[in-house]
Amino acid sequence: MVAELAGLGYRSPMARSKPRPDVVRPPAKPAPFDGAPPGATRAARTPDPTTHFGFRAVGESEKAPLVRRVFDSVAERYDLMNDLMSLGVHRLWKRALLDRLRPRASASLLDIGGGTGDVAMLWREGGGGAATVVDANPNMIAVGQKRAAERGQNAGIAWMVGDAENLPCADRSFDAATSAFCLRNVTRLEAALAEARRTLDFGGKFVVLEFSKMSLPGLSRLYDAWSFKVLPALGDKIAGDRAAYRYLAESIRRFPPQAEFARLLAEAGFERVGFHNLSGGIAALHWGWRL
Ligand SMILES: C[S@@+](CC[C@H](N)C(=O)[O-])C[C@H]1O[C@@H](n2cnc3c(N)ncnc32)[C@H](O)[C@@H]1O
Repeated sequence: MVAELAGLGYRSPMARSKPRPDVVRPPAKPAPFDGAPPGATRAARTPDPTTHFGFRAVGESEKAPLVRRVFDSVAERYDLMNDLMSLGVHRLWKRALLDRLRPRASASLLDIGGGTGDVAMLWREGGGGAATVVDANPNMIAVGQKRAAERGQNAGIAWMVGDAENLPCADRSFDAATSAFCLRNVTRLEAALAEARRTLDFGGKFVVLEFSKMSLPGLSRLYDAWSFKVLPALGDKIAGDRAAYRYLAESIRRFPPQAEFARLLAEAGFERVGFHNLSGGIAALHWGWRL
């Protein structure tokens, strides 16, 4: 893949990571007695801070495997479901995201939680330079790679399995970064924002497309009915997983609304932060710069 991208001036982010010296660890000291039964796991000894998985409170260590199960289950039908659920409107939202970025051949892109590669492919088709998709779910990436091959897009896109909270990429290795509909799934949002900023070069722009708070109160009952009745039913029929699409509707309601998410971006160190509602706030674009 690196060779294929050489013509684009692409250097693998991994290649730029600092070499890690081998670490020789001293034998572990026996753990001090903490009242837990002998042999108890670390999770049993250390109280797991809680987060949410949709409307359920879960331990932080439980969330990533639950999210992974959702996307494992829906990967094959993910793109079809996206079209059905949004009546195709997600394509317009993704185009709006690309318009904010203005792809250039000399610029590299990191797409965080890039799934089946829509954003990376639009970036490339719009004239952008090398794109890297990082996603926690190998099944989503496998579907994306197949689609990219069908669209003749294999050469310009690198795919990596990795966690948005701990990106497998060197500091300042991309000119632009995006994340579409991923961030509401991460366990520690602040950690994911810090990672996006760390991997962006100075002058780089981060654009996030995420579901947000609908600002048309007259439509909120219809939107709730669509989210909590139609989506799970569609999920059941098309992807064979009602719970996964119930989680989708719930996770949307848990994500910080526009102004709050803008504040989190600013707290993570992004500058000139702004946002723009799409479809009356059903989704929103947020952006910020690493300056
Ligand atoms: C709703 S899909 C969005 C996919 C794609 N960005 C799009 O817009 O079509 C969310 C994606 O985020 C990925 N994801 C969830 N949690 C993640 C994490 N902590 N790190 C990286 N990817 C994650 C999932 O595997 C999934 O592919």
